[in-house]
Amino acid sequence: PPSHPAWPWPAFIAHRGGGRLAPENTLAAIRAGAAAGFSMVEYDVKLSGDGMPFLLHDDTVERTSNGRGLASELDWRALGRLDFGGWHGPDFAGEPAPSLYAVARCTRARGIHSNIEIKPTTGHDTATGAVVAREAARLWAGAALPPLLSSFSEAALEAARAAASELPRALLIEGPVPADWRARQQGLGCIGLNIDVQHADEAAVRDILGQGATLAVWTVDDPGQARTLFGWGCHAVFTDELHHVRADAPGLAR
Ligand code: G3P
Ligand code: MG
Repeated sequence: PPSHPAWPWPAFIAHRGGGRLAPENTLAAIRAGAAAGFSMVEYDVKLSGDGMPFLLHDDTVERTSNGRGLASELDWRALGRLDFGGWHGPDFAGEPAPSLYAVARCTRARGIHSNIEIKPTTGHDTATGAVVAREAARLWAGAALPPLLSSFSEAALEAARAAASELPRALLIEGPVPADWRARQQGLGCIGLNIDVQHADEAAVRDILGQGATLAVWTVDDPGQARTLFGWGCHAVFTDELHHVRADAPGLAR
């Protein structure tokens, strides 16, 4: 894939840290992503009940831990007692949910770039966008490349811009790319869109790229599909299949 000045990050991004190799949104996942040769990881960040930015995809902890309840109603001490690894397999039993601080240390020490997806618990969009952006600006100060912030939540992206306007942002799109995507992306001061592979048809991709926006596509788990998307000019793909969709896969080398 060609490099593009508007997209200074790598073209291959490990989804939720390490895709299917490890429990999503943990340090073990990020280490697995790095070990698989990925130099950029995506992960989901929200706030605990007492305001700690930490990694979790869902509103609730049930699916990925041995606990119960909404992230926004559990304080950081209570979250710290939960096992976020055992659901994936015994090798990961006891793996905690990491704070954004721990993730900044882990990724920066390894030279791994970050896409921080701001994933507010329902109703907490503004506070989550503000805290995550403010802390990201502090934690990545002086980094060779800034983290890319992204969100489905336009309120979170507005709050992120108000808190740390210098950090680049991308608008995540759920479902088909809407006709007014350009106005929404530009109105939020975002560099581009991150879209679902199910809706990344050639017309949508060429429209987005032709209007000068950046485009990353999630999740691309087939190397042939990645090749097609790069052929159309896509800047990056997120993958859960780290052993198949990677920079050294046949035909996918930069
Ligand atoms: O940021 C890309 C992708 O992670 C968005 O979907 O549900 O996996 O967070 P989801
Ligand atoms: Mg995500």
